[in-house]
Amino acid sequence: MKEQFGPWAVVTGASSGIGEEFAHQLASMGLNLVLVARNDVLLKELADLLQQKHNVDTKVVKLDLSDPGFLPVLRDVTDPLDIGLVVSNAGFATMGAVLSVPVASLQQNLALNASAHLALAHHFGERLLARDSGGILLVGSTTGLQATPYAGNYAGAKAYVHGLGQAMNYELRKTGVHVSVLVPGPTRTDAITTKTDFELDRLPAPLMSTEKLVNIGLKGLRKNKPLVVAGAPNRMVDWMNRKLFGHKGGRMMLGMMMERVAPPNRTVAGRQS
Ligand SMILES: NC(=O)c1ccc[n+]([C@@H]2O[C@H](COP(=O)([O-])OP(=O)(O)OC[C@H]3O[C@@H](n4cnc5c(N)ncnc54)[C@H](OP(=O)(O)O)[C@@H]3O)[C@@H](O)[C@H]2O)c1
Repeated sequence: MKEQFGPWAVVTGASSGIGEEFAHQLASMGLNLVLVARNDVLLKELADLLQQKHNVDTKVVKLDLSDPGFLPVLRDVTDPLDIGLVVSNAGFATMGAVLSVPVASLQQNLALNASAHLALAHHFGERLLARDSGGILLVGSTTGLQATPYAGNYAGAKAYVHGLGQAMNYELRKTGVHVSVLVPGPTRTDAITTKTDFELDRLPAPLMSTEKLVNIGLKGLRKNKPLVVAGAPNRMVDWMNRKLFGHKGGRMMLGMMMERVAPPNRTVAGRQS
């Protein structure tokens, strides 16, 4: 990893969950890290821990990636560094029927879940292409593999990320730059266990560990796989949706599953106070 994607990696959303696990695994492989998120207290704690444990260099950047002007702040820190890898992971799901969520909240969510990935992939893509080596790993979601009722805005943003990453993978295939999209299904993080009022423990399949997910993602990036759907149960559901049920059946199945896990006031088309 260090030879192919070092010496420095940028990890967004590193203050918790999947991003934090990326930081741990990459540091254990000897990569220096630029850790990005809004909560710089958590980032500094993580940076200290990784420095002590793995003897790597770290930088902390406090950033709101839903702010369209975030790039210059990140560039101040990253321009002097030899960045070989970008893990564009930060994201947040605003769940609920589209009309049950204020549009401003959905738009902010779209900026984080779609536009921020574009800004990062474009800027660092140019830099990596200039050195003809490195990697970009975008974090999508199984919700983005088909229309997902009660997560419509989030799923739409993730579908964009899937399309963007796969197109870049093709466009850069003759260069030394790898581009992969990691597609997690339900994974055990705060996003699922504490940050949503959906009863996601009622999902049919068990939650994947972040350790396993990140392992799968890094393997996929090394092999330059365009789209890495993580875990057999998620690949099976994707296959069934595409081959057996089609768009209409898949949408209905997901709609019914989401209704099972959503609080009743989030499945109605009316704004909740
Ligand atoms: N967990 C799952 O089941 C699951 C499934 C599919 C896809 N995913 C995707 O995996 C990625 C990571 O999710 P997770 O489960 O690890 O969630 P998490 O534990 O809630 O972590 C999300 C990370 O994103 C950062 N973040 C959120 N909003 C941000 C903003 N506006 N600006 C900068 N950073 C921001 C958070 O840090 P701060 O709050 O400090 O900013 C945090 O570090 C997301 O893209 C998510 O959509 C997760």
